[in-house]
Amino acid sequence: MLNMPEKIESDRIVLVRPFPATFELAKEIFEKVELSRNTLRDWLPWVDGTKTPEDEYTGWLVNWVQKHWKEGCGFAYIIRDKKTNTLLGAIDLMEYSESDKSALIGYWLSDDAVGHGYMTEAVRMVEKTAFELGLNRITITNDTKNTRSVNVPKRCGYHLDGVMRKDKWDKRWESFRDTNVWSKLKSEWLAEQKK
Ligand SMILES: CC(C)(COP(=O)(O)OP(=O)(O)OC[C@H]1O[C@@H](n2cnc3c(N)ncnc32)[C@H](O)[C@@H]1OP(=O)(O)O)[C@@H](O)C(=O)NCCC(=O)NCCS
Repeated sequence: MLNMPEKIESDRIVLVRPFPATFELAKEIFEKVELSRNTLRDWLPWVDGTKTPEDEYTGWLVNWVQKHWKEGCGFAYIIRDKKTNTLLGAIDLMEYSESDKSALIGYWLSDDAVGHGYMTEAVRMVEKTAFELGLNRITITNDTKNTRSVNVPKRCGYHLDGVMRKDKWDKRWESFRDTNVWSKLKSEWLAEQKK
């Protein structure tokens, strides 16, 4: 069992478990998805299926986030600016394997929150918490052409394990896409702390 906390804070951002799952919160998240739809839909398959606040509520908040927290296999957080409480995006530590002590990080930011280092900071906050709680490996995957996303694990010192060639059919781009697989091990994270 990975006992991820409900809240993780730094000086400028706070990662919060979106609990309880209220419709008000779903509407707030949906507004950010709506604002950033054109950017997000290029890289996140769920965006086109999220057409209303009801979709956000049922599809993400209830059937994904709450379910996974309850089952202990995924820990999604919304990211807020600490001073203004503005919603910036979300980060999800998912596909947790108790036996392998591994999990995968996924993320998105609203268009108006890009370019400030928020996601780099959020990834570092989640990995610190998870490694301290006993995780051994964190994986991040991204489309090789998603430059902003690729730069996040690069900036956070992840190792590029390899590229899964043409592993995903993307109906929007009408092509097979290549996926980067990045990882960081607890031993590497510990070594970074000593630098
Ligand atoms: C992927 C995504 C979260 C990256 O956002 P991002 O803002 O580029 O990443 P960060 O928040 O880490 O910020 C890094 C940027 O802020 C700048 N920055 C400013 N202050 C910074 C700080 N204190 N620390 C780090 N970077 C900082 C960096 O220079 C960089 O900008 P640049 O790329 O223009 O040089 C965002 O582009 C996104 O949501 N994309 C759509 C969804 C998506 O692709 N999700 C991932 C699917 S795999």
